Amino acid sequence: MIVAIDGPAASGKGTLGRRIAAHYGLPHLDSGLLYRAVALALIARGGDVHDASAATAVAQALDPQMLGDPALRGPAAGAGASVVSAVPEVRAALLDFQRRFAAEPPGAVIDGRDIGTVICPHAEAKIFVTAAPEERARRRALEFAGRGEPADEASILADILARDARDMGRAVAPLAQAADAVLLDTTTLNADQAFAAALAIVEARIGAPSRRAG
Ligand code: CDP
Ligand code: CDP
Repeated sequence: MIVAIDGPAASGKGTLGRRIAAHYGLPHLDSGLLYRAVALALIARGGDVHDASAATAVAQALDPQMLGDPALRGPAAGAGASVVSAVPEVRAALLDFQRRFAAEPPGAVIDGRDIGTVICPHAEAKIFVTAAPEERARRRALEFAGRGEPADEASILADILARDARDMGRAVAPLAQAADAVLLDTTTLNADQAFAAALAIVEARIGAPSRRAG
């Protein structure tokens, strides 16, 4: 079983992905970490995230061990990720890892921007999670504050809006709701309510008569 979760920045994809994966005993991949890792590795070696060929070389040599680095969660990695992720060769270099992760039995829960549209178009369940930008900025600010990091809500909102625009506007694998994805707006839901709603979506999909018959 593959569950694909897509949505804009700080919509709660990762949190939902982790909880759904734990519920079904499936491995979870936060695909955003791949793009964050490319950006961070590039910055660490003094490179420029706007240098497409340097970003491609880093993506092609990416060590998946890097995905555990806590620095990946910071805003610099997020902003850099949305620049390098617009480079088609960077996306191509990271495709194989994601497809192999999904293909491994017993399945996977993967969250990102293009999971339901490009990486796993045949996923059993697809959720497109969203929330109002102001609410997403509020959540991310709380998260940063909880880690003792600077958390200016206005600049977080500006970063989120810029990232959404870049992710939706790019030519290759833009952020978009797959035709067969179910929209989940969590603006007025807490994390537990969002999890319950997401679980109901997955259950409805995997329990659907057409699937049971097949
Ligand atoms: O992965 P993504 O950037 O989409 O979001 P996240 O890191 O999973 O979630 C951002 C923050 O929102 C986390 O601190 C969650 O606890 C919180 N949150 C949520 O995920 N869902 C809600 N309905 C309410 C809050
Ligand atoms: O957690 P948050 O939603 O803030 O970001 P993320 O999921 O870690 O993704 C960081 C950036 O990587 C996004 O803004 C996208 O540009 C890019 N990304 C992508 O292009 N495709 C994916 N499947 C996942 C992330």
